[in-house]
Amino acid sequence: MVSTWILFALAAVAAAQDCQDYVSYTGQAHAPFSSGKYNFSSMRPPEECRSFSSSEVEGVITDMQQKIADPDLYQLFQNAWPNTLDTTVRWVGNSSDDTSEELSFIITGDIDAMWLRDSANQLKSYLPVLSANNTIGSLYRGAINLQARYLNESFFCQAFQPPAESQISATANGAVDNDNVTPSYNNNTVFECKWELDSVASFLDLSASYYRVTNDSSFFSNYQWTQTVQSILNQSYYLQNSTYSADGSVTTTPYTFTRLSSDSEGTQDNSGSGNAFENTGLIRSWFRPSDDATIYQGFIPANMMFSSALSSSVSIANAIGESDLADQMSTLAKTVSKAIQKWGVKKVTTVDGQTTSVYAFEVDGYGSQNIMDDANLPSLLGAPVYGYVGTNDTTFQATRKLLLSSKNPYYGNGSVIAGIGSPHTGFGRVWPMSLIVRIMTSDDDEEIISTLELLLGSTGGTGLIHESVNVNDGGDFSRQWFAWANGLFGQMILELYQRKPHILQHSFQ
Ligand SMILES: *[C@@H]1O[C@H](CO)[C@@H](O)[C@H](O)[C@H]1NC(C)=O
Ligand SMILES: *[C@@H]1O[C@H](CO)[C@@H](O)[C@H](O)[C@H]1NC(C)=O
Ligand SMILES: *[C@@H]1O[C@H](CO)[C@@H](O)[C@H](O)[C@H]1NC(C)=O
Ligand SMILES: *[C@@H]1O[C@H](CO)[C@@H](O)[C@H](O)[C@H]1NC(C)=O
Ligand SMILES: *[C@@H]1O[C@H](CO)[C@@H](O)[C@H](O)[C@H]1NC(C)=O
Ligand SMILES: *[C@@H]1O[C@H](CO)[C@@H](O)[C@H](O)[C@H]1NC(C)=O
Ligand SMILES: *[C@@H]1O[C@H](CO)[C@@H](O)[C@H](O)[C@H]1NC(C)=O
Ligand SMILES: *[C@@H]1O[C@H](CO)[C@@H](O)[C@H](O)[C@H]1NC(C)=O
Ligand SMILES: *[C@@H]1O[C@H](CO)[C@@H](O)[C@H](O)[C@H]1NC(C)=O
Ligand SMILES: *[C@@H]1O[C@H](CO)[C@@H](O)[C@H](O)[C@H]1NC(C)=O
Repeated sequence: MVSTWILFALAAVAAAQDCQDYVSYTGQAHAPFSSGKYNFSSMRPPEECRSFSSSEVEGVITDMQQKIADPDLYQLFQNAWPNTLDTTVRWVGNSSDDTSEELSFIITGDIDAMWLRDSANQLKSYLPVLSANNTIGSLYRGAINLQARYLNESFFCQAFQPPAESQISATANGAVDNDNVTPSYNNNTVFECKWELDSVASFLDLSASYYRVTNDSSFFSNYQWTQTVQSILNQSYYLQNSTYSADGSVTTTPYTFTRLSSDSEGTQDNSGSGNAFENTGLIRSWFRPSDDATIYQGFIPANMMFSSALSSSVSIANAIGESDLADQMSTLAKTVSKAIQKWGVKKVTTVDGQTTSVYAFEVDGYGSQNIMDDANLPSLLGAPVYGYVGTNDTTFQATRKLLLSSKNPYYGNGSVIAGIGSPHTGFGRVWPMSLIVRIMTSDDDEEIISTLELLLGSTGGTGLIHESVNVNDGGDFSRQWFAWANGLFGQMILELYQRKPHILQHSFQ
C-alpha cells in the first residue's frame, strides 16, 4: 500500500505541472464525440491527469456500454459518473497523529475546499463498487476520518481546508464574517462555517453506507468516530432548545452567524441566532444545503436525513460495543422522526379543491410552515433517496405532486428544462439535480424517459451536469465543474439499470 500512496502523490505533482485546469479543459471539445444528435465531447481528463483511478470504476464504465443503447446517454454517463475520481481527489495520505489513519481530501470541483455534504455524496455514487479491500474503500475511510477530525475541531462548520499533512495551502473564501461567528473558527482549517444539520447527517450517512456494504466495523473504533457521534448527540440536545425559557427569558444559542451580505440568504437575523424557535424535538439548522439561510430553523429535509442516517448508524455503534451510545442514537432518531410527523406536515388545498397533507420545507414550532422545495439535496423531493420514506408513502406522493407543479414557488418550466430551482441561483433557473431526483423517485417509465430527455438537452452542449440552467437558454448555466451533480447522474443511471434496465434501451435520437 505504501508505494501506491507514493505513486498517487507523484502523479498529483505531475498533474499539477502538465495538466490543464479542468474548467478550461471543459471549455473546449475533445474527441471522441458521441455519434448521436448531441455530439457530446469526451470530458474525462487524459489518464495521466486524472486525480484517482479505480479499476472497478473503469470496469463498470466498460460494462455499461452494452447496457445503454443511446450513444449520447452513454457519453453523458461516461463523462459524469467518474467525475469525482477524475478531477476532485485532491489529496490522499495518512494522518501524522496516527500513521495507520487514512485521510482523503475531496474538493467540490470549481471550489477548492471539502464540503462535508458534497464529499459524502460524491463518494456515495461509487457505492456499487465499494469494498473494504479496494481503493474506493480506502477513499471512504479517509473521508470519514477527515470529516471526524473536522467536526471535532469545528463542529458547526460545513466546508474545510486541506489537512496540514497535504501541505496544500488554504483558500480564502472572500467573505467577511469571522468576527461575527460564534464559536470562532480558524480559517487555516475551515473554508466556511455555516451550521447545516445535513452536514453531520452526511457524515453519518457515509459511515452507515460504508458499514452496510463492507461489514467492516473495526475501523470505526480505531480513530475519532465514537467521539464525533457523541458530540453530534450532545450538540443536538442544545440545538433542540427553544428561544425562550419557561419564565420568558431568552436562552443562548450554541452558535451564531452574521456576515456582511447584500442578500438575506447570506446572513442570519437576531444578531445571528436566527428566527424564534420552539422546542418540538426538531433540531435547528441555520443554513440549508444550498448554504443559504433558513427562514424557519426547523428545516425538515435535513431533519429527515438526520433521523434516517442516525438510525442506520446505530448498527455501527452496536458492532463496536458502544451500546449506550447506540441507545442514545436510536432515541434521538425516533424523537426527530416523531417531531417531523407532528410539526412538519401541513394540510393544503390542491388545484382540484381537495384537502391533502404534505411535508413542509421549514417550520418554527409556533405553527408557521414554509411550503416550497429547493433542489439541493437533502430536499423534500429527495426524502426517499436518503431513506426517510418510501416513494409510495401517501404524504410523500402528495408532496411530490405539489413540488413538481407551479404550487412550488421554486418550480420553473421553460423551453429547455423544467424542474426545481433554488433561491441560491434565483428565479427562472432549474437545477438538473432536481430532475435526477425526480427520476430516482419515479416508477413511471414515461416520466423517467421524458426527464432523461430534458437532462440530455440541458447540458449546454457540454456533456456534463451543471448546477443550474436558465429554463430558456441551455448555454446559460452555473458551475462548469460541479462533481457531485455529475456523480449523482451516474448513480441514477446505475440504479435505473438495476430497477428498470429496459429504459436504458430507449433511443433519445
Ligand atoms: C462534433 O463536434 C466537434 C467539435 O465541435 C466537431 O468538430 C464535429 O464536426 C462535430 N461532429 C458532428 C457530426 O457534428
Ligand atoms: C496508511 O494507512 C493504511 C491503512 O491503515 C496502511 O495500510 C498504510 O500502511 C498506511 N501508510 C503509511 C505510509 O503509513
Ligand atoms: C479483505 O481483506 C481481509 C484481510 O486482508 C480479508 O480477511 C477479507 O476476507 C477481505 N475481504 C474481501 C471482501 O475480500
Ligand atoms: C479534538 O479537538 C481538540 C481541540 O478542539 C483537540 O485538543 C483534540 O486533540 C482533538 N482530538 C483529536 C482526537 O484529534
Ligand atoms: C484568514 O484570516 C486572516 C485575517 O482576516 C486573513 O489575513 C487571511 O488571508 C485569511 N486566510 C484565509 C485562507 O482565508
Ligand atoms: C460481519 O462481521 C461480524 C464481525 O464483526 C461477523 O460476526 C458477521 O458474521 C459478519 N457478517 C457478514 C454478513 O459478513
Ligand atoms: C457529551 O456530554 C457529556 C455530558 O455532558 C460529557 O460528559 C461528554 O464529555 C460530552 N462528549 C462530547 C464528545 O462532547
Ligand atoms: C438546552 O439544552 C441543554 C441540553 O439538552 C440543557 O441542558 C439546557 O438546560 C437547555 N437550556 C435551556 C435554557 O433550555
Ligand atoms: C408502489 O406502488 C405501485 C403501484 O401501486 C406498486 O406497483 C409498487 O410495487 C409499489 N412500490 C413499493 C416499493 O411498494
Ligand atoms: C412545461 O410547460 C409546457 C407548456 O406549458 C407543458 O406542456 C409541460 O408539460 C410542462 N412541463 C413540465 C415538466 O412541467
